Amino acid sequence: MKVRLFTLLLLLLLVQAPARAQTLPYQNPDLSVEERVADLLGRMSLAEKIGQMTLVEKGSIDPAAVTRYAIGGVLSGGGGYPSGNNTVEGWAEMVNAYEEAALSTPLAIPVIYGVDAVHGHAALAGAVVFPHNIGIGATRNPQLVTDIARITAQEMVATGIYWNYAPVLAVPQDIRWGRTYEGYSENTALVTELSTAALVGLQGEKLSDATSVLATPKHFVGDGGTAFGTSPVPEGLLDRGVTDVDEATLRAVHLAPYVSAIQNGARSIMVSFSSWGGKRMHGQSYLLQDVLRGELGFDGFIVSDWEALKDVAPNYADAVVLAINAGIDMNMVPYDYAGFITTLTAAVNNGEVTMERIDEAVSNILRVKFEMGLFEHPFANTDAQALVGSEAHREVARDAVRQSLVLLKNENNALPLDANASQTVFVAGPAADSLGMQSGGWTLEWQGFNQNNRTEGTTLIEALEAAFGENTEIKYSARGRYAAVNGSEAHADIGIVVVGEDPYAEYLGDSADLALSTRDIGLINNLRDKVDKLIVILLSGRPVIVDTQLNQADTFVAAWLPGSEGAGVTDVLFGGYDFVGKLPYTWPRNVGQLPFDFAHLPAEGCDAPLFPFGYGLSYASAEAAASWLELAATCAPAAS
Ligand code: BGC
Ligand code: BGC
Repeated sequence: MKVRLFTLLLLLLLVQAPARAQTLPYQNPDLSVEERVADLLGRMSLAEKIGQMTLVEKGSIDPAAVTRYAIGGVLSGGGGYPSGNNTVEGWAEMVNAYEEAALSTPLAIPVIYGVDAVHGHAALAGAVVFPHNIGIGATRNPQLVTDIARITAQEMVATGIYWNYAPVLAVPQDIRWGRTYEGYSENTALVTELSTAALVGLQGEKLSDATSVLATPKHFVGDGGTAFGTSPVPEGLLDRGVTDVDEATLRAVHLAPYVSAIQNGARSIMVSFSSWGGKRMHGQSYLLQDVLRGELGFDGFIVSDWEALKDVAPNYADAVVLAINAGIDMNMVPYDYAGFITTLTAAVNNGEVTMERIDEAVSNILRVKFEMGLFEHPFANTDAQALVGSEAHREVARDAVRQSLVLLKNENNALPLDANASQTVFVAGPAADSLGMQSGGWTLEWQGFNQNNRTEGTTLIEALEAAFGENTEIKYSARGRYAAVNGSEAHADIGIVVVGEDPYAEYLGDSADLALSTRDIGLINNLRDKVDKLIVILLSGRPVIVDTQLNQADTFVAAWLPGSEGAGVTDVLFGGYDFVGKLPYTWPRNVGQLPFDFAHLPAEGCDAPLFPFGYGLSYASAEAAASWLELAATCAPAAS
């Protein structure tokens, strides 16, 4: 009897012990978020609080250091895939290891892991790659945007990542900016509508769901308004520069999308590298505190951009104090996290940063971590793993590609293509066989990739070959070289030239001339003489200068950066679907027209843009283009 009672007691203890460890108030999901935040904050040391405010790039930190410093956030920067194992499982293993490291600290606060899944989870090989936002802007379809964002979230949680540095809320005003393609449009209302739709899709029905990810509207605020020539980066022209507008303009053009994002549940916001009113955004307490927190009522957390802290003052210690006091909560210090921690600790100890400010920052971060359900489901969602890169996901991307294409010109019935005609088709341009050029920056690597088809998808040449019937003789030459037949010069009924910008991201994509490469100009010249009908497909992150080529071509299609599903392009070229895309940006005739004064754009004469915002033909409306195309022909310099 005695023995049995003892065993029973022992059993009871065993059952209770782990249960009790899990029911500290902050670990109890039945308590309110604010109760949990207050309880947890009360248990934290200064070191744990500062660790919580620290966000480190995974290449600079191993899991052991996450435990040692009680780090709050880890990210994959551009190209931050697990090297040697860029698979769903490889990512999940990598992210879970950081998570386990965080959970083995005394307070077991989960780490929040972030990535730039700005057009799908595109650093993951085999993930579906959606069109970049410029193409999405052309679709003007908010439901489609929400669907894309839902899929992106699924592919992210499969790898253990619940935090996306997206959507971009920039309203790019000058397309010479290298991040133009990251923005949906030059038009604030369109950006607001589509970025809100993306946020809603990423965050799902409830942020705490294991299929939801935290969205991060970025970059607050005015990133799209920087003036040409103001970039502080030696390689840059506009990126990270000065948004030289008055406050009314800043609010009307650039702030408006944030109002909607916050109303629709934005819980983390990333600050812009740019400056306004003589100050770097990371040191702007007026905009961060008074406007974002006060006026807009934002009570999620504010995250800094990549190493941006150090730019707010010449001396690092001053910079940290200034930025934290301006309102930065989570600090993206990708490399030197130890230096940041030492500096901020010293600033608290000498009173330059108050404990209240630290507590506020940490509360903001913890609040969102609780809302996300991270304490309840910190690890990769294995149920979602089978969906990554699935046919169902690719079908949505393919549909997005169809809707994103903008038909600029279509004469001589060059389109639609006829799959069954007996014909010869020449295809030219390295871009026709390049998932890298189709996808642009932020695809596998920060700057994207140019060589080899490093992920899964369909190139344009593959899509064309699959779509043409057996009576078509299709010859692809990247360099546009076709053998003479029986002594007479090579000739085809149809020529399709795919031209475009080589991949780029951020300041490395700033461009003074927006020129087509001499390679591409040469390809078009060369093919024009060899074919009856010439179709040009442009892959680019923005409008580029094409007036001469537009006149040479019978048909001209702006396909933007469509991503992995090239068959979406052929679906429309063969007439199975109509063109529905509309220009999300005004298209300049020459760079002398930039930056546009949108309020006073001429509609006629050679000072008018090549094409206005919203331009885009369908098969039925191709005639309506006559006046714009006539003007283009009159104003263009002679073909060389
Ligand atoms: C970019 C951000 C990005 C961050 C992390 C920065 O350089 O400006 O948009 O989220 O890097 O990769
Ligand atoms: C990182 C990017 C980051 C960029 C900023 C790169 O090395 O991979 O994530 O946006 O630096 O300059």
